[in-house]
Amino acid sequence: MSENITITKVSYSKQRDRKVLQSCLKNWFSDPKALNLTDPRMSYPFRFEKWVKLSYSEGEKKTWVLRTNEWIVAYLSLSFVPEENRGHLFHLYVDREHRKRGYARKLIHQAESWAKDRNCTHLTLRVFSGNEPAIKLYNSLGFELLPRKEKNNLAMAKTLLDS
Ligand SMILES: CC(C)(COP(=O)(O)OP(=O)(O)OC[C@H]1O[C@@H](n2cnc3c(N)ncnc32)[C@H](O)[C@@H]1OP(=O)(O)O)[C@@H](O)C(=O)NCCC(=O)NCCS
Repeated sequence: MSENITITKVSYSKQRDRKVLQSCLKNWFSDPKALNLTDPRMSYPFRFEKWVKLSYSEGEKKTWVLRTNEWIVAYLSLSFVPEENRGHLFHLYVDREHRKRGYARKLIHQAESWAKDRNCTHLTLRVFSGNEPAIKLYNSLGFELLPRKEKNNLAMAKTLLDS
């Protein structure tokens, strides 16, 4: 049976989305390593309220989920920084059993297209220096390392439009 893949925007301000996200994230982040790679500021056990407060309570945030046959299997957020014409990608996660199928790449393309529509000149992100799969993914999509002092926490950027 072929998989039906959809990408949709969700919002923490909508009660229905919030409920679905809470159960999905709780399930993914029952693995402390998964939580740490996705957001090193979070501590185990996963607390949904803290997750929302830390990352979604201020500024303009966009979140996309990728579903296969109605099930959420991947997640990505973007923080829009209008004064710098910049989109910052964060909280990229793909369900362990659905990796290496191009889902992270699809979500990043979606976020990139949103950022271009909003005239962002570049995208940025942070990644743990030991996270090879993520670094390979970002490199393959044209992200480049930025000079930074913190050794373990790398910063990457991709230019979208000439400023
Ligand atoms: C990193 C992560 C998001 C990749 O998701 P994914 O859906 O498996 O990635 P994709 O299938 O879109 O892979 C695209 C490219 O990324 C690279 N890549 C992805 N997983 C990889 C792995 N395990 N090893 C090496 N390269 C990998 C490859 O270049 C791949 O292209 P290819 O399949 O043509 O070789 C996923 O492993 C994950 O959720 N990890 C835990 C959370 C995390 O680390 N998030 C990122 C925080 S910065």
